[in-house]
Amino acid sequence: MKITNICCIGAGYVGGPTMAVIAKKNPHIKVTIVDINAERIAAWNNKDVSKLPIYEPGLAEIVEETRGKNLFFSTEIDKTIAASEMIFISVNTPTKTYGKGKGMAADLKYVELCARNIAEVATTDKIVVEKSTLPVRTAQAIKSILHNTGSNVKFDILSNPEFLAEGTAVQDLLSPDRVLIGGESEDAIESLAAIYGSWVPQDRILRTNVWSSELSKLTANAFLAQRISSINAISELCEHTEANVNEVAKAIGMDSRIGPKFLNASIGFGGSCFQKDILNLVYIARSYNLNAVADYWEQVIILNDHQKRRFSDNLISTLYNTVSGKKIAMLGWAFKKDTNDTRESAAIYVADHLLNEQANIAVYDPKVNSEKVQADLNYLNTRSDEENKDLVKYYDDPYEVSKDAHAIAIMTEWDEFKTYDWQRIYEQMKKPAFIFDGRNILNKKEMTKIGFEYSSIGQ
Ligand code: UDX
Ligand code: UDX
Repeated sequence: MKITNICCIGAGYVGGPTMAVIAKKNPHIKVTIVDINAERIAAWNNKDVSKLPIYEPGLAEIVEETRGKNLFFSTEIDKTIAASEMIFISVNTPTKTYGKGKGMAADLKYVELCARNIAEVATTDKIVVEKSTLPVRTAQAIKSILHNTGSNVKFDILSNPEFLAEGTAVQDLLSPDRVLIGGESEDAIESLAAIYGSWVPQDRILRTNVWSSELSKLTANAFLAQRISSINAISELCEHTEANVNEVAKAIGMDSRIGPKFLNASIGFGGSCFQKDILNLVYIARSYNLNAVADYWEQVIILNDHQKRRFSDNLISTLYNTVSGKKIAMLGWAFKKDTNDTRESAAIYVADHLLNEQANIAVYDPKVNSEKVQADLNYLNTRSDEENKDLVKYYDDPYEVSKDAHAIAIMTEWDEFKTYDWQRIYEQMKKPAFIFDGRNILNKKEMTKIGFEYSSIGQ
């Protein structure tokens, strides 16, 4: 099928950047991103591209170049679906918070709503592309909805999982390691392959069956997360044996079979995908009664929770077993650098533990605002919104946030943290001045020389 109009449902961290790059590389295709959230669409349409709802290096420039030409943001969902030959579903698939599979399974209600919406308004043949990460065999459900509620329209379903990482989304999209397209209809697969073919070499476009494609996405994330939990497990052992986790990571990473990437010990992984996708994998394995398989992958999550807890426990015990009434400055709230996304960020959980011990939390993040910090904590429901507001203060200056603090906790690896005047920060803190470097980004020797009591992960 020749594609001239694309619709993407969901103007989020995945849909936004992906469609912007598709539009940039395919000027002959009109790409419209729709969303039920009118506020978000308005933000995407903001004349000032520094105010887009999603921060990604390089994204604003591409939006500026393509918006109004062949890239559009709209709330007119039905009209856009009807006018498009290809529809990407890029809505969120959070972990279920109710009912069967609560806390484990992916909540597919938004995906189902999209499928029903497409079935309702389609009057011509459509290719429907799953972009959201979905459990294996979801395509079957989408297919069944489309075929049973639609008119005589032909629907082809493709799985085209996203492998971009936040913070490097534009770069990852412009030169992907691979693009994966799973489907039954060769014609549909080739229609999508042609779109990526505008800039991705053909040998990097993999064609598989739908189920392999769906499972590959979960597997890739599970393997990546497993590397972090593995190195984090070793970090704790290092702390007890005088080995240094950075040295160990470098030594093992030079083995070409292991490779150097994704071996940074940390306070634990965050983000919208790793935990959700592994829980998903575990849930699927259990549903087939494969308990050994499920337990194996679940351990990656258990270790990750342990790493977050260990960080806050260590902070509390170092501060003479009490943080009650003490100002603890958190540098960074995002789940990684170069993004304003905070979903599942370790900072949220560490802050929550410290708040249980009645600490006064002070937060600074270069891209996350005060409202987001409060909302993330309120969402946990550990205490009332008023208490969170009382105990957690947001600062938009790194020197103000650390003033009179008993300790600084580095939660995100933002580059700017390395460039601060640490002497100045030291002078205005309470003494002894503690730093807990959850990302191993500062230089231990320099910090100790200034006078800090410095501790990091796995050293
Ligand atoms: C989401 C999923 O979290 C991830 O699993 C998947 O791989 C890609 O899609 P992301 O883009 O980061 O990732 O989610 P989010 O930023 O929450 O964006 C989803 C958007 O869909 C939101 O703007 C939401 O308003 C919109 N949406 C949701 C709809 O337009 N319609 C719906 O029915 C539900
Ligand atoms: C991930 C996958 O990388 C991507 O391919 C997929 O499409 C979506 O999920 P993302 O969650 O955006 O991407 O970020 P990623 O770079 O994978 O980082 C996830 C978490 O792991 C972050 O909290 C990060 O700080 C942490 N991390 C990463 C470490 O703690 N150590 C590392 O060595 C690498």
